[in-house]
Amino acid sequence: MNKKTRRWIFHIFLSLGIVYIKIGGFSSVVALGASVICSKIPGLAPRQRTICLNRPDAIIVIGEGAQMGINECQFQFRNGRWNCSALGERTVFGKELKVGSREAAFTYAIIAAGVAHAITSACTQGNMSDCGCDKEKQGQFHRDEGWKWGGCSADIRYGLVFSKEFVDSREIKQNARTLMNLHNNEAGRKVLEENMKLECKCHGVSGSCTTKTCWTTLPKFREIGFLLKEKYSDAVQVEPVRGSRNKRPIFLKIKKPLSYRKPMETDLVYIEKSPNYCDEDPITGSVGTQGRLCNKTAQHTNGCDLMCCGRGYNTHQYSRVWQCNCKFHWCCYVKCNTCSERTEVFTCK
Ligand SMILES: *[C@@H]1O[C@H](CO)[C@@H](O)[C@H](O)[C@H]1NC(C)=O
Ligand SMILES: *[C@@H]1O[C@H](CO)[C@@H](O)[C@H](O)[C@H]1NC(C)=O
Ligand SMILES: *[C@@H]1O[C@H](CO)[C@@H](O)[C@H](O)[C@H]1NC(C)=O
Repeated sequence: MNKKTRRWIFHIFLSLGIVYIKIGGFSSVVALGASVICSKIPGLAPRQRTICLNRPDAIIVIGEGAQMGINECQFQFRNGRWNCSALGERTVFGKELKVGSREAAFTYAIIAAGVAHAITSACTQGNMSDCGCDKEKQGQFHRDEGWKWGGCSADIRYGLVFSKEFVDSREIKQNARTLMNLHNNEAGRKVLEENMKLECKCHGVSGSCTTKTCWTTLPKFREIGFLLKEKYSDAVQVEPVRGSRNKRPIFLKIKKPLSYRKPMETDLVYIEKSPNYCDEDPITGSVGTQGRLCNKTAQHTNGCDLMCCGRGYNTHQYSRVWQCNCKFHWCCYVKCNTCSERTEVFTCK
C-alpha cells in the first residue's frame, strides 16, 4: 500500500468516525470500518445500508445535507411552539414526527432538499468520486442570448437523483403516509431545482463584454428554507385514493368534497391535522413548550401567551454587566466604566 492510498483510507475512516458521532451521538472518535458504521447508523432502510456500504464518500455528504436541513428547520421554526424537535425514534434524519402533519411535511421537504444541495455542492468542489461540473453545460453557445456556458455549472440533476435514491428509499411501506412523504421529498427537491441561479462573467478589454460566459450555481440554503416555510403556511390537506382491486392507496388528492384535483408538484401536503404542541405527548411526538423562552410583550407565536398555551411563565432576573463609556487617555491607556442593567427572561411553566 503506498502512502497516498493509506492517507486516503485514513481520511475516509476518520470522516466516517465523525459522521458516526454526529449521527449516532457517541462521544469519542472511533475509527471504524464502513460495515460497522453503516450497521450502527440508526434507522437506515436496507437499500440505504447498501448505499452506505458502497459509497462511504457519499454517506458523509448525505449526513451533512440532512444536518443542514435540520438546522434550517430549527432556524425557520425557532419562534414557534413546534421548534423542529420531536420525541421518539432516532434516525439518520433526526427524530421523526409520528403524525402526518404539515410540520412533518416541512421536515421531509427540507431534508430531501438539503441532501440534494450538499451532494451537488460536493460534486462542484470535486469532493466526490463520480461527479463534478455539469458536462452538458460546457462550451455550448447560446446564439439568441449571446453567451456561452463556461466555468463550473452545478450538476443539480446528479444531486437530485442521488437524494431521491437515498432519501426516498426508506419509504418501503404501502400506505398514505408513504405517499405523503414521497410527495414532500419531491416538492423539496423541486423547489431547489426551480431556484438554481445563473451567474455570468464578461470577458474583453477594459470591461467590454465581447464574450460572456455563464454557469449555474446553487442558491443559498437559507433561501430554500424561506421558500419552504411559505409552502408550509400554504400546505394542502390531502387524502389517499385507493386502488379498486387491492385497496392500497395509489395516489393523493386534495381533501375537499367533490374535488378530484391532485396537489401541485411543489405543494407541501399533509394527511393529518397538527397537534397543538403545547404538552409533551409520546403519541404525537410533541415535546411541549415547558421551559421554552418566550417574549412577554410580543403578540407573535413567541409571545408568552401563545407559546405557553395559557399556563403562564416564570420570570428570571439577572444583571447584565459590561464595559462602557471607554475613553482614550494620552498616552496610552483606555479607561472604562462598568455599566450594568437588570434584565429579565421568561420561560414557560
Ligand atoms: C470538500 O472538501 C473540503 C476539504 O476536505 C472541505 O473543506 C469542504 O467542506 C468539502 N465540501 C463539501 C461540500 O463537502
Ligand atoms: C425546542 O424545544 C424543546 C422543548 O422546550 C427544547 O428542549 C429544545 O432545546 C428546543 N430546540 C431548539 C433547537 O431550540
Ligand atoms: C419582544 O418583542 C418586542 C415586540 O415585538 C420586541 O421589541 C423585543 O425586542 C422582544 N424581546 C426580545 C428579548 O426578543
